[in-house]
Amino acid sequence: MKICVLPGDGIGPEIMTEAVRVLQVLDLKFELEEALLGGCAVDATGEPYPEATRKLAQEADAVLLGAVGGPQWDSNPREQRPERGLLGIRKHLGLFANLRPAILYPELANASTLKPEVVAGLDILIVRELTGDIYFGQPRGIETRDVDGKMQRFGFNTMHYTESEIRRILRVAFEASRKRNRKVCSVDKMNVLECTQLWRDVAIETALEYPDVELSHMLVDNAAMQLVKDPKQFDVMVTGNMFGDILSDEASMLTGSIGMLPSASLDENNKGLYEPSHGSAPDIAGKGVANPLATILSVAMMLRYTFANEVAAGRIETAVKKVLAKGLRTGDIYETGTQKVGTREMGDAVLAAL
Ligand code: IPM
Ligand code: MG
Repeated sequence: MKICVLPGDGIGPEIMTEAVRVLQVLDLKFELEEALLGGCAVDATGEPYPEATRKLAQEADAVLLGAVGGPQWDSNPREQRPERGLLGIRKHLGLFANLRPAILYPELANASTLKPEVVAGLDILIVRELTGDIYFGQPRGIETRDVDGKMQRFGFNTMHYTESEIRRILRVAFEASRKRNRKVCSVDKMNVLECTQLWRDVAIETALEYPDVELSHMLVDNAAMQLVKDPKQFDVMVTGNMFGDILSDEASMLTGSIGMLPSASLDENNKGLYEPSHGSAPDIAGKGVANPLATILSVAMMLRYTFANEVAAGRIETAVKKVLAKGLRTGDIYETGTQKVGTREMGDAVLAAL
């Protein structure tokens, strides 16, 4: 079994080192191959998702990603920005189903900016469609056009979904809910956007295949509000690429500790790319203080979803909980009375707990 490892930029390499150590200690006979994605790839080859990486990623059974991006590439032409590498690999590998859990660990209850009674015990799964929507829709661009009798710059993007794209992501959400509380909330903006009227229609049709699951619908603006007002009303939320981008950041912050949250992006056959939900944190890169737990927990997700090894996944998750219970904290989740540790020490502690 082959895993393509993409450390990426910023804190990516540091947190990936710890995640790989965790994977290796499990002794599961994986073949690991490292490649470049993001800004580091732009620097080395001029492209954020170079051919060599495409080949390795395609051949691998799973991809582990650190993080991409940094201010030094922000003014590059769009084609040479790290984010393009991320969007490129998602599209190339057909990773349409993005699972973003937002779980509040009891030990980290104070990390949230919300009142403990609002978030205690929070466990939401956001299922975000990842290869369609306005992110990839054509036509798109910035052009100078004659609009209202005036030559001016005109920016445009196109939101679109086919019913099959909607149906397959809804099915992922329904299936996931069967391993949880059998409640799916589909989020759209059907009061304004036709594309999401279709989303709602297809959600209702798909629900007929899952009579044991309760489907509800919510407009995205209300969903954003309900997430901070009463987040525990949700179990699985399913939505399109753009709304999912925004709502998943919001949901992650309910837990107060984005440094703890893993994610999975899956294709039709459960091949997946696994990455922490946080970014490359250039401000703390290279300092050995980043939290490696989201990446370590991404390894657990990989073992569960791609390699169907629930036992090994559970072992990692239990080890992480033990380390938190012992009071070890990286800077992002530190509070008085706990013990502040760096990236390597946190990795060591997880290895010891394993
Ligand atoms: C995410 C990120 C990406 C996205 C960016 C970096 C392209 O925000 O994974 O949520 O918008 O999908
Ligand atoms: Mg995002």
